[in-house]
Amino acid sequence: MGRTPGFVCGDCGAASARWSGRCGGCGAWNSVAPAGPGAGPAPPASVPVPLSSVDPAGASPCPTGVDEFDRVLSGGLCPGSVTLLFGEPGVGKSTLVLAVLSGLAGRGERALLVSAEESPSQVRARAARLGAVPDHLLVLAGSDLDALEAAAEACAPGVLVVDSVQTVADPALDAPAGSLSQVRRCAERLAARARRCGVAVVLVGHVTKGGDLAGPRALEHLVDTVLTVEGDRHHALRALRCLKHRFGPTGELGLFEMTEQGLRGVDDPGRLLLGDRRPEVPGSAVTPLLEGRRPLLAEVQALTVRAAPGSGGGRRNAQGLDARRLGVLMAVLERRGGVVLSGVEVFASLAGGIRTAEPSTDLPLALAVASSVTGRAVPGDLVSFGEVGLAGEVRQVVGSERRLAEAGRMGFRRALVPAATPEGPAGMALVRVSSLREALTALPHRPAAALADTAVPLATMPPWPNRSASR
Ligand code: TYD
Ligand code: MG
Repeated sequence: MGRTPGFVCGDCGAASARWSGRCGGCGAWNSVAPAGPGAGPAPPASVPVPLSSVDPAGASPCPTGVDEFDRVLSGGLCPGSVTLLFGEPGVGKSTLVLAVLSGLAGRGERALLVSAEESPSQVRARAARLGAVPDHLLVLAGSDLDALEAAAEACAPGVLVVDSVQTVADPALDAPAGSLSQVRRCAERLAARARRCGVAVVLVGHVTKGGDLAGPRALEHLVDTVLTVEGDRHHALRALRCLKHRFGPTGELGLFEMTEQGLRGVDDPGRLLLGDRRPEVPGSAVTPLLEGRRPLLAEVQALTVRAAPGSGGGRRNAQGLDARRLGVLMAVLERRGGVVLSGVEVFASLAGGIRTAEPSTDLPLALAVASSVTGRAVPGDLVSFGEVGLAGEVRQVVGSERRLAEAGRMGFRRALVPAATPEGPAGMALVRVSSLREALTALPHRPAAALADTAVPLATMPPWPNRSASR
């Protein structure tokens, strides 16, 4: 951004950040050639160039100043790239892109926000809440793609955000905004602009909770980078993930906290995720997740209740965890771990509104369920991780050292881990197990209470303190 594009079209003069066999401006074939002093007469574009002569700086990322965003993108937004940022309505997409634009504009980059959903005064009010309204940040309200392109042509921004791609429309196309053909057309035209002008384009897209991904997900092949913002509106934590990235590794996790002043980067997610934990309650197990390079301590919770008579058996309900995986694990827990679960309903959740698909949560989930069934709490200073196979074996997972180091940093002193796990940090005692049955013996020994015994009849419960006080 702000960098001279590396290639020009010999026919129409259109500049682009990367080479292409066909000019994005005039459509001519084999007319694009390296630009700039010393480039000499344009060689035919069909002539290959030595890879060693290609300038790698053309694809280097530009930091936005929003650290968690830059971390996920391995440094920032790349000039001439197209990024799709999607998430459910209300999760914080507009807030995040405004912070990114403000960051870039504050660094002197010309930034253009096309807001098809909010008026400029609404955007201004939001920017004021976030703390900065930089001069280089331009805003355009409207949904006409031609007007948008004309504005981008006139002000030549280094970064262009379209919020959202489902609310802009190409007037030449006889289809409503948000339809698949419109969304595709808009993305194609904006991607062509990105390549031609070296502008970093960010397209914001909505998905619904019901999993209607057709709109934004249909664009994945058109864009260089796909980001998702996830989070539960009732919780402050927001996770930014990268599903596709042409310029760096995916898998890195960005964490934000939604505050009155917008999204704030979270350095210590354990504080948010474990802050309200009640370690003495059965059904809770802490586990170090590993998203990207970053370990993250989270609480796996399970609640087991008897299925109502005639309800047809035990339901399995998972939040933040894979529901199918929960079903498989319950079968293994019953057959290999000896925990009777038929006729028992299991509710499992990853506390704090986060989600994971990591197999390392098998062991803590099995422990949490067994703990809930037996009424025996998992020790409060113990973490666990490990994949559980169908034979009931506990399998090694990646990144043990980093997981254990984070657990140690957060004050945990014991870890229940797969047998081959290397030593943890000083002061951390490892309990190595090779099977689920072995793992279950790590629950503190107290006579196992049958599920029926753990249910207290309502009539025998003491009255609420304030009720008895008012009597
Ligand atoms: P928004 O960015 O508008 O979500 P999206 O674009 O994904 O639909 O953010 C929506 C929610 O965030 C809204 O419920 C209000 C909340 N919010 C804050 O809590 N603090 C803030 O500073 C801002 C700007 C929004
Ligand atoms: Mg929005």
